[in-house]
Amino acid sequence: MRWLFFLLVAALGVVAGCLAPPNVPGDAPLTPVEEQGWRVFSREPCYSACHVTSVAVTKPGSLDGFVPDLRKTPRRTPDWYLAYFVDPRAVLPYSPMPSFGYLSRDDMKALAAFLRRLNYEVPAPKLKPVAPEEIPRTAKDFASYRAGRKVFDTYCAGCHGETGSGGGSVGHLLSPEPRDFTDAIWMSKQTESYLFSIIAGGKANTAMPGFGNILTPMQRALALRYLEYFADPVARERMELGFVTP
Ligand code: HEC
Repeated sequence: MRWLFFLLVAALGVVAGCLAPPNVPGDAPLTPVEEQGWRVFSREPCYSACHVTSVAVTKPGSLDGFVPDLRKTPRRTPDWYLAYFVDPRAVLPYSPMPSFGYLSRDDMKALAAFLRRLNYEVPAPKLKPVAPEEIPRTAKDFASYRAGRKVFDTYCAGCHGETGSGGGSVGHLLSPEPRDFTDAIWMSKQTESYLFSIIAGGKANTAMPGFGNILTPMQRALALRYLEYFADPVARERMELGFVTP
């Protein structure tokens, strides 16, 4: 029965794909780059196979479900889109989207411009300062280390790299590049409140996404605790070896 559903969606897509660009937010007509992006969007399987349900057919709704409503997705920078097209699961680990890395850079940039037009009414998240006592407490023990490593390797390593240096599989596509947490001098100047608030809300004008809706406060605190070890290789080595000082 499932194939029937996909066939139906694909058929709908072919019909809808022949139509003019959807009503995008804002009064201004599409710019030439956005127009090019729309052409890529309707030519590639994006529209016909999946997103037709969220652009042409259904009412703008929630982000839940298999295919998100592209008018409601969070605001992202163009370089975030680039990384996401090349390796979707390095950026969003549970994304069902296939890679579009075969597109030319030009087409990817145009596609990003079109998608940024679709969700341009979504307000940018405001960075909420976090008081130190609001950060869930985590022990400096092996269990917390391992739990933090799991969160980091799943959600952060695609950009920041498993060694925390910023060299994840899509890190080089971003500008600015992901933060290098092994930079002990930079790390020593940051407060936990600042780092925690960035992990929740993202960093403006960079590809750093907010994880406030994806991870629980405890998971974010564990990721923060874990990434602090990158700037302290001796402590990190101890944890890796399971050698904990009393
Ligand atoms: C899509 C790529 C991407 C992912 C995924 C990602 N980051 Fe980032 N991160 C960045 C970029 C880009 C910056 C900004 C670097 C800069 O401003 O120089 C950044 C910066 C940061 C900073 C420092 C803020 C600052 O001022 O630079 C922290 C802390 C951070 N990320 C934590 C995380 C954690 C924890 C995760 C996973 C839960 C994560 N990041 C996932 C790309 C990413």
